Amino acid sequence: MSASSGSTRHRAPTDRVVRALGDRRAVPNIAWLEALTGRPRREIERVLRECGAFVSVEQSIRAAHLRGGRRFYAQFRAPLELYALVRLTGAREIVETGVSSGVSSAHFLLGLRRNRRGRLHSIDQPMVQRSTRLAPDESVVAVPPGATSGWAVPAPLRRGWDLRIGRSERLLPRLVAELDRIDLFLHDSRHTPAHLRFELDTVRPKLRSGSIVLADNTTTTGRAFERFADRLGARVARRGRSDLVGLRVP
Ligand SMILES: C[S@@+](CC[C@H](N)C(=O)[O-])C[C@H]1O[C@@H](n2cnc3c(N)ncnc32)[C@H](O)[C@@H]1O
Repeated sequence: MSASSGSTRHRAPTDRVVRALGDRRAVPNIAWLEALTGRPRREIERVLRECGAFVSVEQSIRAAHLRGGRRFYAQFRAPLELYALVRLTGAREIVETGVSSGVSSAHFLLGLRRNRRGRLHSIDQPMVQRSTRLAPDESVVAVPPGATSGWAVPAPLRRGWDLRIGRSERLLPRLVAELDRIDLFLHDSRHTPAHLRFELDTVRPKLRSGSIVLADNTTTTGRAFERFADRLGARVARRGRSDLVGLRVP
């Protein structure tokens, strides 16, 4: 089900934001948010309407991508849902692995700023682009020369952002040891079954009932996410037909 079903009052603000980002894949999927949060559709739509205030932020992210030689804004297709999840759950401690230019990070940070509390902890081991132009054999997630992870995140959003540079194999266990809880976790780093398993097992002791766990690009991670959900007794919620999945800890 897409954002076009049910009430459409939230659509004008989100459509403006999606246009500013320049990628229709970012149209929010309300059914996915309903499945993840169990919240009523009208509440989800109310939160999504808030996104109308982000047009200038999204324009700034898009302009940074264009300057960095990227025609497409996103490595992450559901940025507005990340904002909505932070708003709907009031998440206090958010952890993500895989930052690249920072589309997911920026939207977590927007939600935290609106909540007026909470912290984003991000881990990224950037790949670095060889020269000013991205070569055909290089990944779009590579960081342009002279830039670092999160290079498209507007400066005013960075305040209080805990961004750690290095491999999650090394940094995630340390970070998790420092936190007393994790309310929202996004895996978007190395997409192999073993690595996803490692990250999920690492964060698991700090998840609480109601915590949300997300994983992108699961076509290359086998059944690691489904097995984790089984162990928790949680239901996997898939965003449409994509390989972006999530669960709410029972
Ligand atoms: C798909 S991109 C992340 C996209 C990002 N979430 C966004 O919204 O644009 C994956 C990122 O994870 C980084 N990465 C890959 N393996 C990693 C690892 N083992 N530890 C930490 N980061 C890693 C890549 O260099 C890249 O920056």
